[in-house]
Amino acid sequence: MGARDRMELDNVAFIGRTYEEYMDMFDLGENERAFLDGPVLDCPAGPSSFAAEACAKGFNKVKACDMIYGLPADELEATGNRDLALISGKLTETAHLFRWDYYGDFSRHMQYRAAALYRFIADYRAEAGGGRYVHARLPRLPFSDGSFALVLSSHLLFLYGDRLTPGFHAESLREMARVSSGEVRVYPLLGLDARPYPHMDEVLGLLRRDGIIAEIRPTPFEFFKGATRMLALRTGGLKGEVRRDLSHLF
Ligand SMILES: C[S@@+](CC[C@H](N)C(=O)[O-])C[C@H]1O[C@@H](n2cnc3c(N)ncnc32)[C@H](O)[C@@H]1O
Repeated sequence: MGARDRMELDNVAFIGRTYEEYMDMFDLGENERAFLDGPVLDCPAGPSSFAAEACAKGFNKVKACDMIYGLPADELEATGNRDLALISGKLTETAHLFRWDYYGDFSRHMQYRAAALYRFIADYRAEAGGGRYVHARLPRLPFSDGSFALVLSSHLLFLYGDRLTPGFHAESLREMARVSSGEVRVYPLLGLDARPYPHMDEVLGLLRRDGIIAEIRPTPFEFFKGATRMLALRTGGLKGEVRRDLSHLF
């Protein structure tokens, strides 16, 4: 596989999307806005401005978590700016892997990325100690069972499936399902090569053993070519006492 056939990233990028993109990625149309009354968890949220913008719109029960939270805002801002430059170069090399109609063109896409970072940092700084941004390292989450009506997860699982094992995916998804009383939605279901995640059946099989019902649904959003589907999980009230240990798998 050549350098242009996949986006080569040494580390998980600290790149974020906006509220508008989240609403489209997760197909949160008018009839599903009630979900936003929450509580909602964005996991991992990185420098996404979804939580900041949702809260500014009055949906103030939206929380965000990430393993990098807890660092000073200036440090996150510097990391975000470094990764914006990195992604800008990588996108130029691999532009053919993407559909550009949603954004219009490359520079408009980068404006979205910069807007997300700018809005996130402003809110992260203002929120210091306020509890909206929570340090968490998957596959564990520091929340009690059923804390969130909706858990949203984008651009970590499946996308970085070249370095995160199927066991890590199953354990992380199971943990998201545990803290959800309603639904978990995950997008995209492709890797950095824009090909479908190859171990989906294995991961969904592990979840099924714990009574987690998975459904693949269409979404109107597409940036990576072919990324037109999301994963939705329903738990039917999965509780922490379901403790199958999958740690040997990753
Ligand atoms: C691409 S960003 C997420 C962006 C956001 N969901 C969005 O779509 O705008 C990926 C994030 O995953 C975080 N991350 C990577 N591994 C993690 C782990 N094991 N636990 C929690 N966060 C993790 C990184 O710190 C990074 O901020």
